[in-house]
Parts: sequence; C-alpha cells; structure tokens
Amino acid sequence: MTAEIPLLLRQEGARIPAVKRYRDKFENHVVLVTGGAQGIGAVTAASFSYQGAHLVLVDMNEAKLKETAAKLTADGAKVMYQVCNLTDEAAVHKTIENVIAALGKIDVLVHLAGIYPFKLILDATSSDYQRTMSVNMDSTFHLVKAVLPHMNKAGYGRIITTTSGAALQPEAGLAVYAAAKSAVLLFTRAVAMEAGPGYDGESGLREMFSRAVARQAVKRYGLPTDVADMICFVASPEAEFLTGQNFDVGGGFTHGA
Ligand SMILES: NC(=O)c1ccc[n+]([C@@H]2O[C@H](COP(=O)([O-])OP(=O)(O)OC[C@H]3O[C@@H](n4cnc5c(N)ncnc54)[C@H](O)[C@@H]3O)[C@@H](O)[C@H]2O)c1
Repeated sequence: MTAEIPLLLRQEGARIPAVKRYRDKFENHVVLVTGGAQGIGAVTAASFSYQGAHLVLVDMNEAKLKETAAKLTADGAKVMYQVCNLTDEAAVHKTIENVIAALGKIDVLVHLAGIYPFKLILDATSSDYQRTMSVNMDSTFHLVKAVLPHMNKAGYGRIITTTSGAALQPEAGLAVYAAAKSAVLLFTRAVAMEAGPGYDGESGLREMFSRAVARQAVKRYGLPTDVADMICFVASPEAEFLTGQNFDVGGGFTHGA
C-alpha cells in the first residue's frame, strides 16, 4: 500500500502533530484526478489511494501517466488510467463515459491539470493566450459538463477545480494565466449555484433562515456540525499551510446575492 506521504517542508521549529489519515476514509469512492501523471496531481492521487479510494488518473502525458499508475499499483492502489487531452471536448466526454462504464460512478473529480507559462504580455502570442486559456479554463468547462450529469444522477459528487494565487495577486509574466485562473474561480462559484441543490431541511424555521436558504447554492439550513467540521479541519495539522483565510460556511450564501 502507498506509504504515508512525508511532509518534508513543514515549518522548521514548529511542533506540529503527525497528520492522521484514515485508511478507509474514501473506501468505495471513485476519485478521478486530472494532471495525475505528476506534480500535485500525483501526490493528491497517492493521498486518496492511501485512504482507500479507487483512483482514475487522467493526463495527456502517456509515458508519465503509465509510470505513475504502475508505481501506485505496485504500492497496492486500485488504479485506472485514461490518456486524454482535456482541451478536446469529445475526448473528455469519451473519457468520462469510459470511467462510468468501467466503475459505474465518479464520486470526486479533482481537476489539477493545468499549465502556467511565464511570458511578459508583450512577448505573449495569441496562440500562447489560446493555449493557456484552453488548458486551464476550457478543460474545466468540458469536465464539469461531462461529469455533473452522472453526479446528479447518483445524488452525490464533489468537484474540486484549481485556481492560483496569481488570480488574486498577479505577478509579472502571468497575465494570461491569471485571467484563465480567475475565470476558473468564478466559473466554479457559478456552477456551484446550479450544482449544489442539496436537500430541503425540516420546515418551520424562522423566515430569515428561509430567505438565506433561498440564496444559498446548497438548499438546506446550515447546522452547527457544518461549522464544527470546518473548524476541526482548519485546526488540524493537515491545514498547517492555511493561514489568514476567511472560511464561509454558508452553503454558497455570499455568492448568491
Ligand atoms: N505548482 C504550483 O506552485 C501551483 C500554484 C498554484 C496553482 N497551481 C495549479 O495546480 C495545478 C497542478 O500544478 P502542478 O505544479 O502539479 O503542475 P505540473 O505541470 O507538475 O502537472 C500538470 C499536469 O497536467 C498535465 N496536463 C497539462 N495539460 C494537459 C492537457 N491539455 N490535458 C491533460 N493533461 C494535461 C501535464 O501533463 C501534467 O502531468 C495546475 O492547475 C496549476 O496551475 C500550481
């Protein structure tokens, strides 16, 4: 089985308790990771696998994809892989159909495939622009369109897309990348308004809460456990790298105005 992932870059001198991962946490979950051949995608895949998930790795780099899939399989992981250029709409839909045919469902989509070429704007060509937009944003559009109907049918699903600090605090040389990733950010928020119907809670709560629910993406009342679970996560060693952030546990309320 996949070895515990070493956290090599923990803050020096800090006495951070060991990260606890539960081997059965994602048992019976099909987790599809794009960009799974290398980098953050491969590490994310290994982490889900360690916690029991059935992995689907998707990437266009066939050689690296096979290598990573073989390594994970040798470690005891359940892995299916699909070679796909995620800018190709038809190929994305075919890939998702293949996964559904083989495994019956996709519980979690983690879309990590992306590119971040550094080019000063006066050096960037329109084909640089098209490619950066396409790999980062078009792929997100294709994947969401392909996966969401299956999640709706199953009544469950989590979609995690990837943006970048560059979308909020751009650096020189990353103008197009920042544009693509801010598009991903707002697209994801907007899709959440359609994709997160949740369920209706019990009736009879005060009108104010009903108005809030109407504005939320997840159509149910917030519960104390929703907040407690978020606090547990933020307080945990896994969240060591999160700091100075505001976490809105509101079912999408602030984006529904
Ligand atoms: N590394 C960072 O510091 C950082 C910071 C902020 C955001 N991000 C984002 O995180 C994600 C992962 O970053 P990373 O550093 O692991 O990247 P990486 O370059 O190591 O890996 C990206 C993977 O995506 C695949 N890929 C690229 N284009 C593809 C396409 N058209 N179809 C299918 N697969 C494709 C590549 O083959 C590669 O395996 C990216 O979306 C990136 O923009 C990374």
